[in-house]
Amino acid sequence: MCGIVALILKEGQASPILHEALKRLEYRGYDSAGIATLYDGKIFVKKDAGKIDEIHARLNFDSIPGKVGVSHTRWSTHGAPTKENAHPHLDCKGNVAVVHNGVIENFLELKDELIERGHRFISRTDTEVVPHLVEEGLDAGLSLYDATVNALRRLKGSYALAIISTKETDKVVCARNESPLVLGLSDYGTFCASDIPAILPYTNKVIVLNNGEVALLEADKVTVKRISDGVTVSRDAKVIEWSIEQAEKQGYPHFMLKEIHEQSTSLRNALRLQEQYLDLIATFLDRSEKIFLLAAGTSHYACIAASYMFSKLARLAACPVISSEFIENYGDSVGIDTVILAVSQSGETYDTLKAVDYARMKAATILGITNVVGSTLTRVSRAYIVQQSGPEIGVAATKSYTAQLLVLAQIALKLAKIRGKLSQDEIDELKASLNRIPDVVENILETCEEKVKEIAIKYSKEKLFLFLGRGISTATALEGRLKLLEISYTPSLAYPAGESKHGPISVVEDGVPTIFICPNDETRKEILGNIMEMKSRGAKIISMCEEGDQKIKNLSDDVVEIPKQIHPILSPIPYIVPLQLLAYYIAVEKGLDPDKPRNLAKSVTVP
Ligand code: G6P
Repeated sequence: MCGIVALILKEGQASPILHEALKRLEYRGYDSAGIATLYDGKIFVKKDAGKIDEIHARLNFDSIPGKVGVSHTRWSTHGAPTKENAHPHLDCKGNVAVVHNGVIENFLELKDELIERGHRFISRTDTEVVPHLVEEGLDAGLSLYDATVNALRRLKGSYALAIISTKETDKVVCARNESPLVLGLSDYGTFCASDIPAILPYTNKVIVLNNGEVALLEADKVTVKRISDGVTVSRDAKVIEWSIEQAEKQGYPHFMLKEIHEQSTSLRNALRLQEQYLDLIATFLDRSEKIFLLAAGTSHYACIAASYMFSKLARLAACPVISSEFIENYGDSVGIDTVILAVSQSGETYDTLKAVDYARMKAATILGITNVVGSTLTRVSRAYIVQQSGPEIGVAATKSYTAQLLVLAQIALKLAKIRGKLSQDEIDELKASLNRIPDVVENILETCEEKVKEIAIKYSKEKLFLFLGRGISTATALEGRLKLLEISYTPSLAYPAGESKHGPISVVEDGVPTIFICPNDETRKEILGNIMEMKSRGAKIISMCEEGDQKIKNLSDDVVEIPKQIHPILSPIPYIVPLQLLAYYIAVEKGLDPDKPRNLAKSVTVP
C-alpha cells in the first residue's frame, strides 16, 4: 500500500500542496517519498528514502517549481526503500514521470522486453516499466493519453497510477485497477489521490474512479473513460461531508474496524506474490531436516495454522515456537540442517530477531515473512516474502494476520507440489479456493457484521469467555481469544476442544459464553461432542459454522454462518473475521478504544 497524489493548478505552485497532501497519506506508507513537477518544459524530481518530514528537511520539497505535479509516499513491495526505488520513476529521456500504488504482476516479462529494445532501468521496482511503456507510445507520436492507455492495456495486476510528461505539460493522466483512486475538482485546479483525506483541505467535490477506468486531468476539467474500450463515463462529483479525521479512517470510527474491512483488499494483494520467491522458500523448506516456525503474538497463531497446512498438504512437519521460548527450548538442537521460517508483521520484534540471530550463529537458514520491506527481518533472511498488507495502525493485528495465513497457505501448496504430495486435481481445487478467499471474506463482512454486533452487545458484560476449536481451528480459537483479551481486557481461555476436559471444563457453569469454531472438516463430528459436553454443563454456545449446518445450529444459542466455498485447510482465514468483529464490538460496547489498548504496543522492540 502506497499513497499517490497528483495536481494540476490553473495558477500557483503545486509542490507545497502535493507535499501537504502526501503527509495526510503517510498512514499508507512511509519508507520513502518523492515529488515530480513540470516546469519550463522539463521534469523536476525530488525523492529519497525516509519519512516525508525527514526528506523535506534535507531536500525542501516546496522549492520545486511548476503548476503540475505527481507525488508518492511509499510502502515497499518490490525493491528495498532506497532513493532509486522511490517514486516518481522516469523513462530513459526524463520526459515521463510516474507514481504508482499497487503491484504490476507481469513486470518481469515487460522489463525483459523493454531492456531488449534498449531501455535502461534504474530501480528494482515493478513500476518502472510504466514510464518506459509510455515513452514508446510518445515516441510513436501518440498523445500522452493514448500512450498511457496503450501501456495500461499491457499491465496485469493492481494499480493506481498518475503520469505527467513534458510532451503535454497541461495534463495529468491517471488510472485505476484494484488500487483506490479519487479525483478532486476545485475552482483552482484538479487533483487525484489514493484517498480523500489527502485532498479534503482543498476540495470536498470528488469523483471515485472505478476499476478499469482512466482519467485525463486538465486544470479546469476531468474526463473519465473505460480503459478497455475508450467509452466515456459520465459520473457526477460527490460532496464529502467528513472531517479530515473521519476521512483518514474512511468514515470508520476506528482504524481497527477500517483494517478489518480492508481484508478483502489485503488478501487480494497477498495473492500477488512473486512465484520465484515462493518457490525459493518452499525449496529451502523442502531440503531441511528440521523446520521451526518462529513468531510472537498473532504471528505465532498464524504459524500454528501453518504447521497444520504444511503437514496436511505437504506431509512436512514444522514446529511452531513462540520466539521468546525458542533458545531455551530448541536452541541446542539447531544446526546447519535447520530452517527457521520467522513470521513477523513488523519484522522488528525483539524476541523474534534475537532467536533468529541465535539460529544464524548456529548456521541455520533463515527465511522470513513480513509486512515491512527493509525491516531487520528482511536484512537477516536468506529469502523473504513481503505480505503486502500495507501499514496496520490498529495495535491488534487483523488484516496482517489473514494475509500471513494466505502467504503461508501458498507456501504449503508449493511445498505439496515440489514434494509430489497432491494430485493435479487437488492442487487446482486448492488454488481455486485460495483465489476465492478475498470474495468470501468480503461476503462475510457484508453479511455477518450486524449479527456479530448483536452477539457482542448480548455478551459484552460477561466476565469470562471460552474459545474452542479442533485441528487447524485451534489457531482460530487462540487468535480469537487474543483479539478479545487485547482490546476488551476480558479474561478468556482458548484450547484445542479435545483438551477442554483436561482442565478448562472446570470453569464452565451456567451462562459461560463458549465460542466454538466448527468448519465442516474432519473434526466436525468430534466438535459436536465437545459442544454437547459444554452445553450440558450450562455453557452458552456461540458457534462459527458452515452456512446451513443445521446440527451445529440446533445446539447453539447464537450462530454466525460462514459461506461454504472454501477448502477446510483455509478455514482459519474466513473464520477469524467474525471473531475480530466480536472483539471489536465488545470493546466498543465497554466504552474502550480498540485502537489504543492499555499496556500494549504495535511493535515490541525490547526484551
Ligand atoms: C505485539 C503486537 C501484536 C503482534 C506481536 C508480534 O505484541 O501487539 O499485534 O502480533 O507484537 O508482532 P510482529 O510484528 O512480530 O508480528
